[in-house]
Formats: sequence, C-alpha cells, structure tokens
Amino acid sequence: MNVLERLRHSFAAATPEGGDAAAFAAAVRPSTDSKFGDYQANGCMALAKSLQKNPRELAHRVAEAVDLAPLAATPEVAGPGFLNVRLVDSWVARTLEDLIVDEALGIVPPARPKTVVVDYSSPNVAKPMHVGHIRSTVIGESLARIFAALGHKVIRDNHLGDWGSQFGMILWGWKNHRDEAAFATAPVAELARLYRLAQAKIKAKEPNVEDATRVETAKLHAGDAENRALWERFMPYCLAALKDVYDRLGVKFDVELGESFYDPMLADVVADLEAKGIAQVSEGATVVFVEGTKAPLIVRKRDGAYNYATTDLATIKYREETWQPDEVLYVVDHRQGDHFKLLFAVARRWGYERTDLEHVAFGTILGTDRKPFKTRDGDVVGLESLLDEGVAEALKVVQEISPDLEPEQHQRVAEVVGLGSIKYADLSQNRQSDYVFDWKKMLAMNGNTGAYLQYAYARIQSIFRKGEITPESIRLQRPTIALSHPAERALGVRLLRLPETLELAALELKPNILTDYLFDLANAFSSFFEECPVLKAESTERRNSRLALADITARTLKFGLDLLGIEVVDRM
Ligand code: ARG
Repeated sequence: MNVLERLRHSFAAATPEGGDAAAFAAAVRPSTDSKFGDYQANGCMALAKSLQKNPRELAHRVAEAVDLAPLAATPEVAGPGFLNVRLVDSWVARTLEDLIVDEALGIVPPARPKTVVVDYSSPNVAKPMHVGHIRSTVIGESLARIFAALGHKVIRDNHLGDWGSQFGMILWGWKNHRDEAAFATAPVAELARLYRLAQAKIKAKEPNVEDATRVETAKLHAGDAENRALWERFMPYCLAALKDVYDRLGVKFDVELGESFYDPMLADVVADLEAKGIAQVSEGATVVFVEGTKAPLIVRKRDGAYNYATTDLATIKYREETWQPDEVLYVVDHRQGDHFKLLFAVARRWGYERTDLEHVAFGTILGTDRKPFKTRDGDVVGLESLLDEGVAEALKVVQEISPDLEPEQHQRVAEVVGLGSIKYADLSQNRQSDYVFDWKKMLAMNGNTGAYLQYAYARIQSIFRKGEITPESIRLQRPTIALSHPAERALGVRLLRLPETLELAALELKPNILTDYLFDLANAFSSFFEECPVLKAESTERRNSRLALADITARTLKFGLDLLGIEVVDRM
C-alpha cells in the first residue's frame, strides 16, 4: 500500500459512527501547502453537516481515535475542522533508505492485476499522419506505460482505419490519375497525392467523383478482386510509413487489428442484434435506439453497408472473447463523444456489461492564434515535419544552454529534448481541454516543460560526475538518510509519492497528474540543491545522505519521464 492508501485506511477505520467510511477516506489528500502538513483529512466538515454535529469537535474525536503509527503522529485540528497530518521524519527517512535499493521505487504489484486494452493512435491509413494524431498516440502510450508500471496487463491495440471511405478515394484516384513512376519511387507520397486529389475534387463538387469513390469503397467491401488486390498492394507501404513515425516516437503496439480485420464478422453482429430484438429496421436502415439520446446507433445503412459503429461492436465482442479485459480505453478525440456514448450503451444491452469501456477524450491542438493548428498556407500540419521542427527548435536551445557539448552531442540532445517537449506539452495539459501549440513555451528551460525536467535529471548526473562518485557506489553503501533541513525533508516526502501519483493518474486516466508530480519534484530538488550543499556537505555521512536523495530523485525523474514516453540524457 502506498502512503496515501495507508493513511486512508487508517482514517476509514476511525470514521465516526453513522459516517460513510469510503467517503471519509477519500477526503484524505496530499496537502497543497506544507503549512498544513503533508496530508490533510478534510472529511469532517461534510460529515458534521450530515450528522448535525460540530465539525471541530468531530475532528478532535477523529484525531484521538485515528491510529496513523508508524507513518504519522496524532493529526492536528485546524480551521473549521481540517485534520493536518505530518509524516514522522524518522519514518520518512527509513522508508527512503529502502528506496535507495528498490528498483521499483516503492511500487508494489497489485493483488489482482487488471487486463487493460488501450485503443489508441488508430489513424486512418493512406492519409499521412497529421498533428491531430499526436494526442491519441502520446496520451494512449503514456496510459499504457502507467498501467504496465503499476503491474497490470496491458494490450496496446492500434485500431487502424484501413477499410473506410478514404480507400475508395485512393482506389478511384489510382484508376484515374495515377503516376506509376512516382509510385515506384515514393509510394506513400503518391497515395497521399491521390487521396488529396480526390478530396479536392469532391470538395469542388466535380460531377460524379464522390459517387465514384463510394462505388470503389463498396466494391472493396464486396470482395471485388481488383480492388482487393490493390488494397493488399498499398497496405504494406502505408503500414511501413506509420511504423517510421511510431519508431521515432518510441511507440510499439501489441496488436494492430484494423477495421478490415473485423469486416468478416459484421453481418453476424447485425444478425445477432436483430435476433435478440436489440436492433430494428427503421427507414430502411438497421438501428438500435438508446434511451435518452437523439439519434439511434446505425449498424447497417440503407444501402446495406456496415459502418464504423458496426465495426466497433464487432471489436468489443472480439476483445471480450480474446482477452476478457477489465477495462478498454478508447483514446479518441472528444468530438466522437456521442458515438462512444451510444456504442457503450448498445454494448451493455448486447450483454457486454462486465467490462469498463471508457472514452478517454481529448481536446484540440490550437495555434498561437487560438484557432485549430494549421501551417501558414492553411494545411493541416504533417506529423513528421512537426517532429523535425521540434528537433530543430530544440537544437537552438541546446546550443545556447550548453555551448561546450560536441556537435554530435548537440544533435542527440536536441532529438531527445525536441521530441520530449512535444510529448510533454501535450501530456501536461488536462487532456479534456484544448491547448495552444507554442514552441517558445514548450522549450522553456524554466517552467513546467519536458526540457526543465530533463535538465534537472542531467544536473543530478553532473553532481555525481563532478564528485567522481557513481550512483551505484552510493546505493551499495546504503547511507543513513538524515532530514535535518526543511528542504531535505520536503524533497524526501515527495519522493515517497510516486506510487500514489501513478495510482491516481491511472484512476483518472490523466497523465497530467504525473507531469504535475514530476514538476513539483523537480522544484523540490531545485530548492534542496540551492539550500543544502551536497558535495561540500559538512560531513561524509551528510554528503552521502544527500547524494542518495539526489540519486532517488534522478531515478524517479527518469522513471516518470519514461512513463510519458520521454527519454533523458546525462549531459545537456
Ligand atoms: N480511425 C478513427 C479516426 O481516425 C479512430 C478510431 C478509434 N478507435 C475506435 N475503436 N473507434 O477517427
């Protein structure tokens, strides 16, 4: 059990009679201000109201009854009925001593690991990846890493859009406008050109183009030999292009079962829904009505075609039968909220009630003009050029802050810092809100940025280099930790919070809970380093204690950044 859980457990046991222990325990939280201790139990006010008691009196009763040993002494009653908990220094120090040699940094595997499917990235192939794809990819990857780090079984599933109308557009383009030579040298670029050409013609309402592309999609779905052969010819190139981007981002899927994989199952899905009386025919289409929603879920269109929703239902069934997941996370743009609400309601009626299906929604990326992020000519920003730009911008910063690195080192550091800054800017936002894409802010060395945390890590490595001491030698010595200075203590208390932070991030499906923690930790380290001499400490014991704190900090930063998909460098 992590520190927060242990405290909650104790407070639950001390809940006054007539109170809801779970709610009382849930009101225990880390303090926002160290003036109020390390943790606060804020449940007395609400409880006093429902029991019609005096909140301060109630708080005093709880303070006497609660047993927080050995973590903390009797909590202190403050204000209208807050209970402030201060961890016992010696307990914090002994626990930190265990962390010195604990590779898991205090994380204990769960008694019953969950199986979690993360459905993320999931681009429509055959279109180049653009800036919109970064959020699903980066947030999904981070959630997958967080769940795995907590000891759960994670299945990373790239639900590729490899069967939709965009293929009809490409097939039409290929048949009418292809450039074989261009395809031979750069196949994906040629397919993208054909896609854009069809898109432009449809937008310009050129006669018959839209219908013609639809016919091509329908023929593909109906098993037309020519279209099927072209699809099979194009797919490997599309997948290879995606893989380049994923490799660069450090993203690896366990399965990439695209929409095409589910195609053979769709007729059975609809037949089953009809047989069970869940789906019905309405205006020629087959639909499922869901109470409280405006439109029904369409599972077969009037022209007989199955659609996105049918595929998603087949996917739910397949995942259930294959992995029996406890949770399925759909990391998808918030604009698909209505789709998922309907889908999940229909799935429950269909009998898939056991699994927790969650739409992990996220907002839009905006330009500095606060409009959806576009290039200067108004195009969507391609993902690869965005990554290149990030590295180029980072190179400028790195050359400025560390002029004495070798040019190859600059390049390597710029790659790590540039990609890290893009990921961090995304993950540090509350995912539900839109955010402004601004290189200047993303690469600031001071502030809540990836670069700041990477720098904090590198700075700790430089302390060891300067002292000609290796972190391993400190770990082997297992020094006694002393927390005599308030800045030492503040750092130490934060180092114990990694496990509870990850639990909370997994519960709320919010990587920004982790970024906030890492930023707070880096700040605590910075104050510690300003106020407590490390290499020049007054004694060897003190020096080794501080080096051990620095080492745990570095490992926590590295571990935490890795869960965000961000690398570190030893020098920058
Ligand atoms: N391919 C879809 C799109 O680009 C996202 C798919 C999300 N996953 C799902 N199971 N529906 O909009």
